[in-house]
Amino acid sequence: MTDNTIDSRRVKMGVNIGRLFLKNPVMTASGTFGYGEEYSPFFDLSRLGAVVVKGLSLRPRAGNPPPRIIETPSGMLNAIGLQNVGVEAFISEKLHFLRQFDVKVIANIFGETIEEYQKISAILAQAEGVHAIEVNISCPNVKKGGVAFGTDPAVAASVTKAVAAETDLPVIVKLTPNVTDITQIALAVENAGADALSLINTLTGMSVDIESRRPHLANITGGLSGPALKPVALRMVWQVVRAVKIPVIGIGGIMTASDALEFLIAGAQAVQIGTANFINPLATMDVLNGLEDYLVRHNIEDISEVIGSLRT
Ligand SMILES: Cc1cc2nc3c(=O)[nH]c(=O)nc-3n(C[C@H](O)[C@H](O)[C@H](O)COP(=O)(O)O)c2cc1C
Repeated sequence: MTDNTIDSRRVKMGVNIGRLFLKNPVMTASGTFGYGEEYSPFFDLSRLGAVVVKGLSLRPRAGNPPPRIIETPSGMLNAIGLQNVGVEAFISEKLHFLRQFDVKVIANIFGETIEEYQKISAILAQAEGVHAIEVNISCPNVKKGGVAFGTDPAVAASVTKAVAAETDLPVIVKLTPNVTDITQIALAVENAGADALSLINTLTGMSVDIESRRPHLANITGGLSGPALKPVALRMVWQVVRAVKIPVIGIGGIMTASDALEFLIAGAQAVQIGTANFINPLATMDVLNGLEDYLVRHNIEDISEVIGSLRT
């Protein structure tokens, strides 16, 4: 009798995000994994497909005043306001730590003007150990720029063009769900030269303390992330995958391997895991192991056979 079953050592997990090859489709979502240091005691970062770092701006940012996080029954609201060390300090103080690992590093960036996006991209293009740029045109928690860049197709296209002109690195544009038709933004960004899209960022939400009758967040509104987001994210990923030719990275409420599988089956080429890291620092590893188990259980040799396999 021949044994044609496969084991986890034989499954192929590699995926291409345009010109960027990842050894597996599991990444961290920006802002939920810092610059990798805090999580490295828990597991070997080399096992990840990629680390997406906290959003970088041209100058360091203190972010919004507290309180800036509040839990809701099915997710979390945050209004951090893009606190970060700034692009120069990232390169001089943080990047060498990540270079120790055999992992792709994706720098997530944010600017208050198109010129700032350009300057940050030009600086990162010179940095050794950055493999791609993820352009955040979708932060709901900042007064200048932020979501304004991601809700108008023409502006989203201008930011994309400006970044792509500054760097040979693959450019991934991260979209906001806070729009009427996400496919319009996706198409504009694709036509402007993006190599890939990642979606979604947080959905704008709010929470009120009924005793004080004040908003829980000092910023009043915040970005909703976690399980509440998943059905919305999945629907948007499915819509965008059918509208564009470039790869799509699925993000939003992925807590387990089965959540990740829903996105891959719907057509995402890879996934990012955000809020789950706060609950379980090993969430990315659980997802990765669960994906391998799924392939073995279904006798599938290559993750690419799962991607876009939705039956409708
Ligand atoms: C605390 C926090 C900080 C975040 N910071 C960023 C950021 O700097 N840049 C960015 O593009 N997205 C940021 N995000 C959005 C996440 O990367 C992700 O798109 C979103 O949380 C949805 O995924 P999740 O449900 O798995 O958390 C942040 C999210 C959280 C919860």
